Amino acid sequence: MSNADVIASSETLARKLSADEIAEIEHEMTLYPDKQAVGLEALKIVQKHQGWVSDESLLAIARYLDIPVADLEGVATFFNLIYRQPVGKNVMLFCDSVSCWIMGCEGIKDDIKNKLAIDYGQTSEDGEFTLIPVPCLGDCDRAPVMMVGEELHRNLTPEKIDEIIQEVRNKK
Ligand code: FES
Repeated sequence: MSNADVIASSETLARKLSADEIAEIEHEMTLYPDKQAVGLEALKIVQKHQGWVSDESLLAIARYLDIPVADLEGVATFFNLIYRQPVGKNVMLFCDSVSCWIMGCEGIKDDIKNKLAIDYGQTSEDGEFTLIPVPCLGDCDRAPVMMVGEELHRNLTPEKIDEIIQEVRNKK
């Protein structure tokens, strides 16, 4: 039985979408030709409100849009920026594509790993940071690069990593 089958077979699993989530999904439905096409946007909307997309949320979206759970699960799996497990308050989208690799991103990743005790896909103990590898962030000239929240950080060095971590912790 696939993950989608397991989700779909549990009648009690779906959560109730909030009024805000529904309003935003309804708005997206005015922009797309069919409900199937709204799936990714609906996942993003729920993630914005909930922080991640649980099985309960996935099922709720599939039911609301009246599309197969397996299709929506496929979309969620394909886009690695749809988080299917809880993430920290600050997601570090760490580019590990070729330019960043040539410019030493592996060493920077090790530095993050040592400072926060996390590897790819993991969240720091204080719940502040999750580290996720992503393909090229489009700023190869200033590699290594990572994005934290809305902010792109370029020419990463161990010192810059210290500053980024400190800045986030100071905001707490
Ligand atoms: S390869 Fe890292 S930003 Fe392009």
